[in-house]
Amino acid sequence: MTTATRTRLKFENAKPNIASRILNTKEELLSGELSAEIRELIEQRGVLVFPQINFTDDEQVEFTKTLGTFMPEMAGQDVYAISLDEKVNPNRDYLKGSLYWHADGTMNALPIGYALLTSKVLPTWGGNTEFCNTYAAYDALSAEDKALVANLRVMHSAWTSLFYYDPEPGQDMLERMMGIGDKELPVVWTHRSGRKSLVLGCTAHHVLGMDWTESARLLNRLREHATSEPFHYAHEWSVGDCVMWDNTGTMHRARPYDPDCGRLLTRTKTGGEEPIA
Ligand SMILES: [Fe+2]
Repeated sequence: MTTATRTRLKFENAKPNIASRILNTKEELLSGELSAEIRELIEQRGVLVFPQINFTDDEQVEFTKTLGTFMPEMAGQDVYAISLDEKVNPNRDYLKGSLYWHADGTMNALPIGYALLTSKVLPTWGGNTEFCNTYAAYDALSAEDKALVANLRVMHSAWTSLFYYDPEPGQDMLERMMGIGDKELPVVWTHRSGRKSLVLGCTAHHVLGMDWTESARLLNRLREHATSEPFHYAHEWSVGDCVMWDNTGTMHRARPYDPDCGRLLTRTKTGGEEPIA
């Protein structure tokens, strides 16, 4: 494990290719003075952990606003309660797809930029949140694979992810998910910075123009590579932990947990700054 100090941002790396723990105080973080360094670091590390920083909802909103353009939820609230308790979250079905590798907002014109989660209630079992660094996974591809995927395009849709958790949906449900639309995206996202990351996940249906078994084989192999140990970080929550990820260079998923345990995470996010291209 390494410990490093960059000007005033204090951090230690959790794993070589992904995730750092930030060691600054809450006051230092809320001051906004570290925002540029945080943005620079997270583009390299994918995930930043603020151990037991204990942000209140208002503080989490305030901190998120120092990092980019704050993006409220669709219903207008600043904070989204991630809970399977219907009294807390009336749209709990929306969370079923979060158990499978994905990035947030892939179907939007701009995927979201950063997302932050704070743990409020722990699960009784399970419930880790896992991440993978899709920049590092791209960089580690063989020259042959980089050439293979360079110009490939994939059809993504929300209804593809539906079949992960509901293999025999009612027609109404299928039509509703199809109504969200589909979107053709490159496998390789060349960012304005010049860095490249992989665009995969449970919305990926098929590679355009490829034999369908070859397509399934390739998408599965790339997902297995991108989420493998060297690029993977699993966060086991303590109450008060805040975890932030760069949604443009990572994928994430929740691990299963007791649906009746009251596990509660609060999420805030920033708007995306560039389309997938
Ligand atoms: Fe998500």
